Amino acid sequence: MSSQRERTIKPTDLRGILRYVPMFRDHVFVIAVDGSIVSHENFPNIVTDIAVLRSLSIKVVLVHGIGHQLVELAGEDNIALSDIQGEGPTDVTTMSLAREASALVSQSVLEHLSQAGLRCAITNAVRATKVGVIKGKNHLFTGKVEKVDAPLLKTMLAQDILPLVTPIVCDREGQSLRVNSDHLAMELAVALGASKLIYLTPFPGLQVDGVVKVNLPEDELNALLANKQVKLDPRIRSKAMQAAKALDEDVPRAHILDGRVFGGLLTEIFDKVGLGTMVHANDYDRIRQAKKKDAQALYNLAKNGAKTDALVSRTRQQIETSINDFYVYEIDDSIIGCAALRPYAGTKAMEVCAVYVQPFYHGRGVGRKLVEFTKRRAKELGAKKLIALTTQTQGFFQSACGFQPGTQADLPAERRQELKSSGRNSVVLTFSLSRLQESVR
Ligand SMILES: CC(C)(COP(=O)(O)OP(=O)(O)OC[C@H]1O[C@@H](n2cnc3c(N)ncnc32)[C@H](O)[C@@H]1OP(=O)(O)O)[C@@H](O)C(=O)NCCC(=O)NCCS
Repeated sequence: MSSQRERTIKPTDLRGILRYVPMFRDHVFVIAVDGSIVSHENFPNIVTDIAVLRSLSIKVVLVHGIGHQLVELAGEDNIALSDIQGEGPTDVTTMSLAREASALVSQSVLEHLSQAGLRCAITNAVRATKVGVIKGKNHLFTGKVEKVDAPLLKTMLAQDILPLVTPIVCDREGQSLRVNSDHLAMELAVALGASKLIYLTPFPGLQVDGVVKVNLPEDELNALLANKQVKLDPRIRSKAMQAAKALDEDVPRAHILDGRVFGGLLTEIFDKVGLGTMVHANDYDRIRQAKKKDAQALYNLAKNGAKTDALVSRTRQQIETSINDFYVYEIDDSIIGCAALRPYAGTKAMEVCAVYVQPFYHGRGVGRKLVEFTKRRAKELGAKKLIALTTQTQGFFQSACGFQPGTQADLPAERRQELKSSGRNSVVLTFSLSRLQESVR
């Protein structure tokens, strides 16, 4: 436990957290808590963490599971359950116990939220429909989400009311159905345009061969799920599959983490390394071609780079004229880095220039990704060689991006002349784009 505590956030980290506050203000986080976590001694701490998120103006929707309580209730009366997780068929007896379990869990969550001074409400904002017959098997009272009344939930969130969503959901006729809470949380995250879908589980995260995957790009997650050799606990697989669906529907991040760890929720959100598994969209680190509207942001970045003489100074006009040569790196809709590709007319070479990353994001691989992106782009554009002219970042281009020392002879005469008259005395580095194949897995 002590090592877990050491990994949790410390008051001294508040300064770091403050940087994230504007980033998440008014964002919606959907948090799904397994039934076993609601029963765990750490649950009151989770509720305190949620209260902290609320105090930072993060809007939280809470979904709870009931699997653990359902098994307990069935055990007491020696009842055989037709299904535990709300994925297989739910018969009448299981449905009746599921309603009971859900009422118990909801009440327990309400008690904890009340103790933390959080206003909350259970609504009928979600409508379910029967799953029906799958592969010849009638799933009876098992439901899936048909519709989410997002305006109702958003109104509640705007009024500082935390919606608590239970996995017993009514259909159009008002009949209760058992819905898998992982699926429910995913549908809510999609419908509400949530920034995060967070699963609090009794597992350290998504583990492969005993190792927790800390950062998992969407593509890698899909490959993992498709790989039959990879053995995942069914409960983790269910969350991973729902996480993949959420990302496919543009929820930028999904987290699977251990709900039993003190302070785990805040650590996962505010610590750079986190605690469990974060699945991120492939475009989480999004690079795209610059548009006209980006000119001002690019000008500001270039101006900062020019202050230290790392970049050539560029006017806004110059940036606007060559806007199509620029690529920007966006996080949460703000441009945090850029790079440009300058063609050398009449040659099979291009220059990567104006590589700049905002200092706060240094050391997170953004610069390298930008350069790798320009390599691929240059190759697509028919170039055979990429040139970098640098005054201060020779190490970055050589060690991190695989460039080799070049000479002025690698430059076309016109560029050589331009460099000479600039007086910058830049070092010439080159990268042969035929090598690119080797570095792409
Ligand atoms: C150079 C710059 C783009 C790097 O961006 P970044 O996002 O911090 O870089 P990354 O995180 O991708 O770093 C990748 C690797 O390069 C290393 N690195 C970063 N900057 C370096 C530098 N100036 N010299 C040597 N190595 C450097 C990192 O330590 C990291 O190494 P690792 O893989 O061993 O961990 C950024 O520091 C910057 O914007 N600098 C100011 C503008 C500039 O000099 N641009 C280049 C002009 S062409």
